[in-house]
Amino acid sequence: MATPESPFKPGILRGKVALVTGGGSGIGLEITRQLGLHGASVVISGRREQVLRDACAALGGEGVAAHYVQGDVRKFGDCERMAAAAVQRFGRLDVLVNCAAGNFLSPAEQLSSNGFRTVLEIDTLGTFHMCRAAFEHLKQAGSSGGALIINISMTLHYGATWWQAHASAAKAAVDSLTRSLGLEWGHYGIRTAGVAPGPIEGTAGMTKLAPGSDGEANMQKLMSAAIPLGHMGRPWDIAQTCVFLASPAAAFMTGHTLVVDGGEWMCKPAL
Ligand code: HXC
Repeated sequence: MATPESPFKPGILRGKVALVTGGGSGIGLEITRQLGLHGASVVISGRREQVLRDACAALGGEGVAAHYVQGDVRKFGDCERMAAAAVQRFGRLDVLVNCAAGNFLSPAEQLSSNGFRTVLEIDTLGTFHMCRAAFEHLKQAGSSGGALIINISMTLHYGATWWQAHASAAKAAVDSLTRSLGLEWGHYGIRTAGVAPGPIEGTAGMTKLAPGSDGEANMQKLMSAAIPLGHMGRPWDIAQTCVFLASPAAAFMTGHTLVVDGGEWMCKPAL
């Protein structure tokens, strides 16, 4: 599906600095791109340096001021380094987007302790690490115009999802963290928000859910039948939600997770 023009003014985020973990590819890259195209200076982080370097070159080609820091959100020291690098490069940190995630399909009875722990460490601990490491910088931004944390979540845990016990537990905890930090950090001028994507076309998540190109096409058909709006989402849909959250239009929102899934999570077969 083609991506439409942004409904937001191009300069709506001018002067802001955003750090996006997992910003080198997929949904994270599109979030970074849209924040940048709307005027923010952007820093991306991830584990694969070449991916980050290529992403920065592509962003630069579109006129976005972009910088990268290699690191793993499971390591608190790396997170401190990422937050500090954003401030060192662009002078401040206003928006933190926690998009780094890990996932795979596994029946619970076959999932190893380390497999479960790995996904919780990337998704949940990694999100806390980044929020904690960025706190002082965000607090400074909070006292001069407002700061924001966006946690990219999922809808898997609203009910229960087959072969996703690990990711469901991890994202349930992330949603809880979004609320806790919204409560505790609001008086510092730091807002929090979650964004819970449904099935998004062309992403690593979909490839893992439906390996092989035929599988993916079939899955797309099945998914579309189970989505009230009739089609899968695009990375653009998630990115535009983040632009909205970072804009003054969302200035009175905190602690809430927005579901951006075409209605998939609430869909039940007709009786
Ligand atoms: C069962 C698995 C497994 C699999 C890994 N493990 N893949 N168990 N089925 N398919 C187990 C390993 O056996 C090991 O446990 C433990 O998990 C850690 O695996 P490592 O490969 O050593 O970890 P690491 O190299 O750190 O990689 C982390 C990862 C990897 C999560 C496993 O997939 C990754 O880095 N992913 C990042 C990108 C990603 O997943 N993006 C999708 C996010 S989107 P043992 O016991 O053997 O030591 C998304 C949307 C929903 O989440 C998608 C639905 C599927």
